[in-house]
Amino acid sequence: MDRPLTVTTIGELRDRLAEHRAAGRTVGFVPTMGYLHEGHASLMRAAREHDDVVVVSVFVNPLQFGEGEDLDTYPRDLERDARVAAAEGVDLLFVPPVEEMYPEPVLTTVSVAKVSEPMEGAARPGHFDGVATVVAKLFNIVGPCRAYFGAKDFQQLAVVRRMVRDLSFPVEVVGCPTVRELDGLAMSSRNAYLTPEQREAAPVIYRALRAGAAAIAAGERDPQAVRELVAGIIEAEPLAELDYVEVVDADSLATPETLQGNLRLLAAVRFGRARLIDNVGVTV
Ligand code: PAJ
Repeated sequence: MDRPLTVTTIGELRDRLAEHRAAGRTVGFVPTMGYLHEGHASLMRAAREHDDVVVVSVFVNPLQFGEGEDLDTYPRDLERDARVAAAEGVDLLFVPPVEEMYPEPVLTTVSVAKVSEPMEGAARPGHFDGVATVVAKLFNIVGPCRAYFGAKDFQQLAVVRRMVRDLSFPVEVVGCPTVRELDGLAMSSRNAYLTPEQREAAPVIYRALRAGAAAIAAGERDPQAVRELVAGIIEAEPLAELDYVEVVDADSLATPETLQGNLRLLAAVRFGRARLIDNVGVTV
């Protein structure tokens, strides 16, 4: 089979999907920025399992990159992406040029308050407006679907879920677990930035987060004590530069005064020019 079919215009994608819907098929959608890895592939497999037609978008969205961030150097390899998508039985690969998505400066943006404000939102001003805007646009292009997102980007998942609820998108958001390397490092396109030494040190993020979760499971109820424990482990790694560590309520993403219920520990850490994020869950 000549799957996936690569489509570069909004019009053609809409036409193809209209044919599938007319035949009564459900649509599974996996938005990505490409440089696909096993984490992305796991989302495609979930979509393949639940839906009749699987669409993957590859679009490095300029709106979600800040001044001085890695828009220009973000890794790209479309040929390999097409092979990964083919291996996962993807039907349609949507790869729009920037001019197709943004033919003129965008005057309309989507902004999700509260959940987008702490952590990544504070560290990367405007980032989640860029994410919410492009995801809203992609949902409007793809139409009613199940959309698959990774828990790796936990705050992004919360932002998208909230946007879908608030604006009544005809989309069912499906969260999927984080896929990791054997040593625990969460898979990420940005891991390509790591030198061999940094790559060897990077699993400290997951190790530290798990230690924090274990402390909570063992009875620790003070968020500050948990943050200090996790930060201490990360800061003991000379190649790591801690950006933030937080322990939040998994639904509201607010920091509780005392730890209870469904919690999430999240951290952002720099290794040279790579800025990596990860998170783990724990329930009290
Ligand atoms: P990108 O970083 O390419 O990620 C695309 C999807 O893959 C996201 O839902 C992300 O959470 C998921 N993902 C990445 N690494 C993963 C891992 N190790 N395990 C499981 N899932 C993983 O996130 C974006 O692109 C963009 O912000 C996007 C939503 C496409 C909007 O531009």
